Amino acid sequence: MPAFIQITDTHIVEKGHLVCGVSDTNAALRKAVNSINNRLPALGQIDCAIVTGDLTDNGTPEEYAHFAEIMADLKLPWIAIPGNHDNRNAMRNAFARQHWMPSFGPIQWLQDFGPFAVLGLDTLLEGAHHGELSAPAFTFVDEQLIKLAGKPLVVATHHPWMYSGIPEMDADNLRNGARLMELLEHYSGPIRMISGHVHRAITGQVGRVLCQISPSPCHSVNRDQRKDAVHSLALEPGAVTFFTWHDGAQSGLISDILSLEKSAPPVPFE
Ligand SMILES: [Fe+2]
Ligand SMILES: [Fe+2]
Repeated sequence: MPAFIQITDTHIVEKGHLVCGVSDTNAALRKAVNSINNRLPALGQIDCAIVTGDLTDNGTPEEYAHFAEIMADLKLPWIAIPGNHDNRNAMRNAFARQHWMPSFGPIQWLQDFGPFAVLGLDTLLEGAHHGELSAPAFTFVDEQLIKLAGKPLVVATHHPWMYSGIPEMDADNLRNGARLMELLEHYSGPIRMISGHVHRAITGQVGRVLCQISPSPCHSVNRDQRKDAVHSLALEPGAVTFFTWHDGAQSGLISDILSLEKSAPPVPFE
């Protein structure tokens, strides 16, 4: 069955560096790559990994080179869209030879998986933490929605539109997401939106669009709903999200969050 793994918010830094002095994001991605590789025999055929932004922490050429070096060990091809911690030009230069990388404009693409398709969109607004879709991005969405003609669709973005309930993250979400949701609302087929940015596993329904945010292999954005809470990162266990098409009476795309923590081997039910 067609399948992909969403890896998001890897925040790669130069060798020996830590994010906020505590989060070893480089080790976290290496752990994710090993964990995915080890799970591949049990997961079956997987078409690719989709990286939904914040590949690096500062968008430098050195960080993209380090990201590529770690990802070279992944036994899957990968494709990516940028996040607010990325730099579009540096990312384009680093991965210019990849089939999915456009030579100019937003880093956006369509990946056809057979029974469904994934539309990767570029929500990076250089110099800002919040996300915005540009005019060329909306043109691309318009064109693709017409072409896809109701095929089950996943729209992948770094910035979510749905609220997470974490005020600082919701202030920095996809600010013109309402316009995107209006287009998706009128799409004739099943549709969902998958994002990153919040580093937590969050699901919500916006109109007829199922919205999901994937956890990150590294740190999480802390959830503390008290009024005086300090916006913080938390070193919670990392994870990636596995998506696979399910055929049969209830055909459709299912998702499963895969922890990167080592556990004891499976034990057969009695
Ligand atoms: Fe992030
Ligand atoms: Fe982000």
